[in-house]
Amino acid sequence: MKHRNILLALLLLPLTAMAEEIKSPNGNIVLNFTIDEGRPTYTLMYKDKEVVRPSHLGLELAKDKHASMGLDEDDLMTGFQMVDCKTSEFDETWKPVWGETSTIRNHYNELAVTLVRHFDRPMKTAMGQAPEMMPGGGPGVALQPYSRQMIIRFRVYDDGIGFRYEFPQQPDLNYFLIKEEHSEFAMTGDHTAWWLPGDYDTQEQETQETKLSEIRKQMYKAVNWGNSSVAVFSPTGVQTSLQMKTDDGLYINIHEAACADYATMHLELVDAETKALTTKLDGNSNKYTPNPEPCEYPLPKPFTFVSHLTPDATGLKGAMQTPCETPWRTIIVSDDARDMLSSNLILNLNEPCKLEDTSWIHPTKYCGVWWEMIVGKSSWNYTDQFPSIKLDQIDWQKVKANGRHAANNDKVKRYIDFAAKNGLDQVLVEGWNVGWEDWANMWKRDVFDFQTPYPDFDIKMLNDYAHSKGVKLLMHHETSSSTQNYERHMEAAFNLMNKYGYDAVKTGYVGDIIPRGDHHYSQSMNNHYLHVVKEAAKHHIMVNAHEATRPTGLCRTYPNLVGNESARGTEYEAFGGSRPDHTCILPFTRLQGGPMDYTPGIFVTKLSEWSNNTSWARITIAGSLALYLTMYSPLQMAADLPEHYEKFDDAFQFIRDVACDWDESIYLEAEPADYITVARKAKGTQNWFIGGKCDEQGHQSTVKLDFLEKGRKYNCTIYADAADAHYETNPQAYTITKRVVKRGDTLKLQEAPGGGFAVSLIAQ
Ligand code: NOJ
Ligand code: CA
Repeated sequence: MKHRNILLALLLLPLTAMAEEIKSPNGNIVLNFTIDEGRPTYTLMYKDKEVVRPSHLGLELAKDKHASMGLDEDDLMTGFQMVDCKTSEFDETWKPVWGETSTIRNHYNELAVTLVRHFDRPMKTAMGQAPEMMPGGGPGVALQPYSRQMIIRFRVYDDGIGFRYEFPQQPDLNYFLIKEEHSEFAMTGDHTAWWLPGDYDTQEQETQETKLSEIRKQMYKAVNWGNSSVAVFSPTGVQTSLQMKTDDGLYINIHEAACADYATMHLELVDAETKALTTKLDGNSNKYTPNPEPCEYPLPKPFTFVSHLTPDATGLKGAMQTPCETPWRTIIVSDDARDMLSSNLILNLNEPCKLEDTSWIHPTKYCGVWWEMIVGKSSWNYTDQFPSIKLDQIDWQKVKANGRHAANNDKVKRYIDFAAKNGLDQVLVEGWNVGWEDWANMWKRDVFDFQTPYPDFDIKMLNDYAHSKGVKLLMHHETSSSTQNYERHMEAAFNLMNKYGYDAVKTGYVGDIIPRGDHHYSQSMNNHYLHVVKEAAKHHIMVNAHEATRPTGLCRTYPNLVGNESARGTEYEAFGGSRPDHTCILPFTRLQGGPMDYTPGIFVTKLSEWSNNTSWARITIAGSLALYLTMYSPLQMAADLPEHYEKFDDAFQFIRDVACDWDESIYLEAEPADYITVARKAKGTQNWFIGGKCDEQGHQSTVKLDFLEKGRKYNCTIYADAADAHYETNPQAYTITKRVVKRGDTLKLQEAPGGGFAVSLIAQ
């Protein structure tokens, strides 16, 4: 044996001490790692309370026909020895390009364990093929020792942990396919959970609030069967970010960070009732059907979640090439619900900004030619003349207009005037480009070209007009989930945006993914979304992607990703409505990974007052104002029609004034699904804004102004629900009061059922 090999063999000897403990900087969080009969296992404690019981970690690999490339059916779950273990500390403060605070501290203790699995397999031939593929190969051939190395890296913060799997480049693990990741999260009891059904294609459900043991019986009702793309997979499968609360008052949140080149994770609960995954939900037939593939590995204990990745069109979950790593799996924990909202753990686990110049990225307030189409009063499409269209076969100058097309020159100018008058930065215009006549769910690849305007949308004139008034248009690219089509046209589409001075695009992924069979949250689609963000950055374009995968903090690395929908947005108020507590849950769940383009600001909530739509928004006007604070985003829409805002101009003053980028944010009160109160200091100013939003019960809030600067006076305007306001019966009843306040004063604010309040504090 050469010296190098002896050294390597010594280095790879299993460590005798098999359990490792690591604490967070303040000692409140304790993580233990051990090898349990060859299986990597961890536990988590918070202030001496058990949060995660012994839980196994690992990945199951899939067999592939390219065995010669080192692909091999196997697992990275069992037979491990720990051969190295490193601890370190990290403490750094960084400045986000935009955010809830001007600086963020990233302080953690790290444990990195190197695991090796030795095994024997048939010897490879000189050409690299597996012997069973060669003439005369098969059983009885000589065996050769192999080894596989995997690092599990834990980062332990004061507010939770992150861990991920890393696969160094190595002779016996170059390319591999993932059949499933089996990361376990064994909960200590039957916690209350705020959950969405696990679904490979939509995140637009209402949140369910149940005990873990009730997930199974609630699942069928929880699925959004009416969505344009549905693929539920299990009666106990849920999405992340999953918020829970224990009976003794611990708040626990499970999500992921930095999901790049990997499939989005769901969680599947092995519940007390069945202890096995025996059924699955079929998104196509809308039925529970028997699962032909029961779990092959030892089943975990009751109330244990196991990771479940989104498959691609082949059913597999990932194609990897070493060196590589998985996203971070995150657990945020605290006995104070406010800590769930102020946590920066997910952003911190993402890599620092990769864009050299970020000067072109800016927070944006916008209005749009949008709500009236969502409500059904006008249309995205220009004509009703054809049963279907082929983009290259229509002379758009000659077609018969339907008279309902919203993105026309007069209307867009009206919105530009409104934006200019009210200090809004941009105007979104949807339906400006040809193709909307048969845009959704037709399995049509060439659905849009993203470059040809309808004849009544003069792209040059409208952009010139907007710029002359200090406003920009906000581009819209609905892809109809036809991703190849979008990638083919993207460069030309971004060049067109540069030519006319657009610097932001709202993208959309309505309907099933084309090419058929893939899913919205698969590895390949996650690669697509990030590819769009990176290409857009080259053109100095900010991205706000709807129906794309739920965010995992990648906006730290690519801050031109200024927004995502990726949940049930305000549009659902026109599709039957969302419960009043919806916006008191989203900050705990969906917003953990990044901002949401929730599109708040509906003032005329009964849509039948101005359209044939009988749906109504479950919120008061004061509650709508609160969302500009409680639903943090650097991109905020004023979604209602200009004429509705003109009717309530005194309340609209708050939307004119409110900032969307902050130096400081202080969560004053919070309880999932009940209420959230937050105070924020506008970036680069001494001005503060406070918002409080509550559920259908109403809420009494007492805000102590002890965060204001000592000795300074503030002009305080309070936008509150009137005493008789109610989200259903009296949503437009609000009061506006003004006074001068100072540090130490107290505001008492009554929030109506489904209501809230908004306060501006302008420094004198
Ligand atoms: C769904 C989006 O969420 C919505 O905002 C958009 O108007 C439509 N798709 C059309 O692209
Ligand atoms: Ca949507």
